[in-house]
Amino acid sequence: MNEGDQAEADRLKRIIEALMDRAEGSSVVQGADFDLFRTAVLLEEELERRKEELAEALAENRKINQSLREFREILHNGENRFRCIMEHSPIGIGMADASGTFIEVNEALCALSGREKAELQGMNVLDILHPNDRETCGRILERLRLGKEGVIRTEMRFGSEQKPVRVNLGIVPERDSSGMLLHFICMTEDISGRIGNEDPAGNQPSYDGLTELPNRTLFFDRLSREFFKAKRTGRRVALICLDLDGFKPINDWNGHDAGDFVLKTVVKRWLACIRNIDTIARMGAEEFAVIAGDLETGEEAVPLARKLIGMLIPPLIMPNGMQARIGANAGIAIYPDNAADMDSLLFAAGRAMQESKSRGRNTCTLSGVKPSSGGVGEECLSFNESLLVGARELDEQHRHLVRMINHLNETLTSGHPDVGHSLSELFAYLIFHFETEHRLMAQYGYPEMTEHDLKHERMTREIGLLSGDPGSELLMLQKLRNWHLDHSRNCDSLLGEYLAQKGIP
Ligand SMILES: [Fe+2]
Ligand SMILES: [Fe+2]
Repeated sequence: MNEGDQAEADRLKRIIEALMDRAEGSSVVQGADFDLFRTAVLLEEELERRKEELAEALAENRKINQSLREFREILHNGENRFRCIMEHSPIGIGMADASGTFIEVNEALCALSGREKAELQGMNVLDILHPNDRETCGRILERLRLGKEGVIRTEMRFGSEQKPVRVNLGIVPERDSSGMLLHFICMTEDISGRIGNEDPAGNQPSYDGLTELPNRTLFFDRLSREFFKAKRTGRRVALICLDLDGFKPINDWNGHDAGDFVLKTVVKRWLACIRNIDTIARMGAEEFAVIAGDLETGEEAVPLARKLIGMLIPPLIMPNGMQARIGANAGIAIYPDNAADMDSLLFAAGRAMQESKSRGRNTCTLSGVKPSSGGVGEECLSFNESLLVGARELDEQHRHLVRMINHLNETLTSGHPDVGHSLSELFAYLIFHFETEHRLMAQYGYPEMTEHDLKHERMTREIGLLSGDPGSELLMLQKLRNWHLDHSRNCDSLLGEYLAQKGIP
């Protein structure tokens, strides 16, 4: 009961007592005294009612206070737990606002990024990434902001070009009950020391673990962008395939550490002689590829290939002081002179490299092949028997998908401006096709349904990440084509067999 209520109750009580005294003073209660007595009784009832109400309100108030105390305790415990995780986690954790600016970071993230806490808080997530990874991460954040992705787990690099640190980066958006984005929780783990590229989450890593160079996945992404630029500018793109000569004996006789040292030294020498706009990628154990765009003629790539070979002529000084000699052979293919699509260009450069190898160490060959595939009117994927899965509905849809992939290829190679439309139509049909397969799997109790759905989801996510990104159309086409071939033969065929067993035509 508050002070006002107490004063009112006291006032009423005094009036009632006065009235009761007066009424009791009369042997017969009548006339004005009777009215006063009745008023006193009514007021007493009112007072009792008010007291009950106040008692109820008091009890309610106590309950609310108790709930508040419990809620504060839960909040306090949650906050303590969060602080404890932040402070002691070996994983780098940062909380950023919706713009991506860090508002809270832990020590592990400071150590990983090589920055002080005061410096890091206030910086944008993108600012601590390697310059080449910022664009990709920016796209990821945008997709998370728009709710197109729930959680992202991918591989990125922190730091500068000279001193990159490879990390696994997980980003979780935190939203309020209305769905409004409040924060991004970023979690990072240093994976620089890991050898190998497998990511159990199914995300495609982009860099080679040993040399830190782009791997095949990122190589095709970069090549696709160079094709896109060349189409607009009319310039040439050179692809130089390089194969080390003499590497295997060093690796076999002196051990993998020696082999690793050689590879790292070779890469260091090559990185010192290419232009900033060029890309070197590690394509296999001792195979590398250089993408050199913005060339006036294909012949301009020959001096660059010779320079790369020449960089390996001085002997390598091994950690044990011994000298090692290594060489390289190069094959060059030019877009669009030798091929109109990425796979054909890689094939042409590979063939030219084999020719160099047959001519001896440290030679370079410029491909002479003419574009023979992927041209206007030519199919980049043909629907043959190997793609039939045995279920009529799926075969019809697969046939249509192949037609759409070929149409996209034609649109891209002819430079037709309606590429975006073809892509979105193809994407929409792919989703429809995945829904059809899901419906059939669910309807007939396909035991591998979850795994199969997951494969569809991954493909949708990969394509979704690339969509709307100018320059990635060729990469999307290549991914779709290769994925469809592989998925139809290895996964949909099993589903087709299962459906056939269930009597589905
Ligand atoms: Fe499928
Ligand atoms: Fe399929």
